[in-house]
Amino acid sequence: MQQVERYNDRVVRQFALMTVVWGIVGMLVGVIIASQLLWPALNFDTPWFTYSRLRPLHTNAVIFAFGGSALFATSYYIVQRTCHVRLFAGRLAEFTFWGWQTIILAAAITLPLGLTTGKEYAELEWPIDILITIVWVSYAVVFFGTLAKRRVPHIYVANWFFAAYIITIAVLHLVNSAEIPAGPFKSYSVYPGVVDAMVQWWYGHNAVGFFLTAGFLGMMYYFIPKQTGRPIFSYRLSVVHFWALISLYMWAGPHHLIYSSLPDWVQSLGVVFSIMLIAPSWGGMINGIMTLSGAWHKLRTDPILKFLVVSLSFYGMSTFEGPMMSIKSVNALSHYTDWTIGHVHSGALGWVAMISVGSLYALIPRLYGKTRMYSIRAIDIHFWTTTIGIVLYVAAMWIAGLMQGLMWRAVNPDGTLTYTFVEALKATYPYYAVRVLGGVMVLGGMFLMAWNVWKTVAGCGHAEDAPVLAPAAH
Ligand code: HEM
Ligand code: HEM
Repeated sequence: MQQVERYNDRVVRQFALMTVVWGIVGMLVGVIIASQLLWPALNFDTPWFTYSRLRPLHTNAVIFAFGGSALFATSYYIVQRTCHVRLFAGRLAEFTFWGWQTIILAAAITLPLGLTTGKEYAELEWPIDILITIVWVSYAVVFFGTLAKRRVPHIYVANWFFAAYIITIAVLHLVNSAEIPAGPFKSYSVYPGVVDAMVQWWYGHNAVGFFLTAGFLGMMYYFIPKQTGRPIFSYRLSVVHFWALISLYMWAGPHHLIYSSLPDWVQSLGVVFSIMLIAPSWGGMINGIMTLSGAWHKLRTDPILKFLVVSLSFYGMSTFEGPMMSIKSVNALSHYTDWTIGHVHSGALGWVAMISVGSLYALIPRLYGKTRMYSIRAIDIHFWTTTIGIVLYVAAMWIAGLMQGLMWRAVNPDGTLTYTFVEALKATYPYYAVRVLGGVMVLGGMFLMAWNVWKTVAGCGHAEDAPVLAPAAH
């Protein structure tokens, strides 16, 4: 008798569960550092608990551990379902799970110890960089191997986005992490001065564009049609969206270095590409939102869909705000202020975290042979606490940022500064308190999610992998 071919859902389940765990850890550290900005004594005079060491721990945990695990889980799930084949090289896929978790643990140990390259979002020292390269190449082999053995002729658009993200992150990591070791936990970048800064922000911005955006767009292109039960609004638009997005993002990095010693024309080039980026970003957002046309009523009863749609609204907002902030005169006001932090979290919490959470709520029951999550009401409460929490966080930072920028630049008729730095800091205080409140609400929602996932999964002792569907039956 012929054996039924099954999808490799085990590795998807592993990554999906770890997404929830790392989401809680990363956001908890976020709440701690937000509280430290309010009450600096919370570092307890302990070096490894200081803001400077916990901040990179937060960014690494939320981007690479939480976001990364969500991307691994969904890309492995989607590529199998849309290619109608089991994942290529199962053992290698298993290795990517354990390898990625090891990298996260290594980060969680070395960053509080103060071992860092000092390059934002690329802080991990060279031995960990090597492990990242090995795991990432394995990921590429598994993903592209699966695409290569697909049973359907065309490649679904979500996979295009995942493919671009996997290739680009490999290139970014290799180029930006080129360093000369000076001991087991110390290295120096091979690039000198301003070249180092340019390479770093070419990396930094494309980490936003490809890690925090392209992969999550892959999620969006699969889970929004699935959850609404309707095809994508325009397949043609999705293809235009893809090519425009990936070709424009690459050039926008210099907007992080405006008014720096980077040549002026490079800064201007970055600004022009940043402004052009509105077009593909909004094209993608509109494509996602319009997929709901005819199914808007579902929003009343389906909190998962609410997560997905609100995430797109935040995506639209942050991709409008980003281009505005890249304009030199606006950047002169926003740079160094909490406005940037507001922008970051409207993208990172509003877009990245919400689309991940929505996708996981859709994915987890399917992985465990359930028709739905244990409690729909808990999803709804999670949706509202998260949405209100994010709005509090982001609005507080917008107001604080604008206020700081204006206070710093205010001058008296005789040319002296109107406010001292400390006065601006004091004025920011209440907004930091609002941010902590918003962060606690978002974190609370994650705990509720963990409970809901636990209740959904409990009793599923040995979850079965689903059989591979014949292309026509999908
Ligand atoms: C409970 C939720 C969260 C809280 C309370 C929080 C809090 C914070 C705080 C206090 C900072 C430092 C701000 C500063 O230096 O002035 C920060 C930075 C950052 N966070 Fe979060 N965060 C949360 C969730 C997230 C998530 C989910 C992501 C990404 C997916 C994220 C990405 C970042 C990034 C990239 C930075 C660095 C920004 C920069 O350097 O401009 N955060 N966060
Ligand atoms: C069209 C899209 C976007 C453009 C043109 C853009 C532009 C910008 C600009 C001009 C800054 C301020 C740079 C500075 O003054 O230092 C910035 C910072 C940042 N943006 Fe965006 N942004 C976009 C979308 C997003 C999205 C969707 C996310 C998150 C998912 C995001 C994450 C960040 C982060 C993490 C930073 C802080 C980097 C740092 O200084 O550490 N951006 N962006």
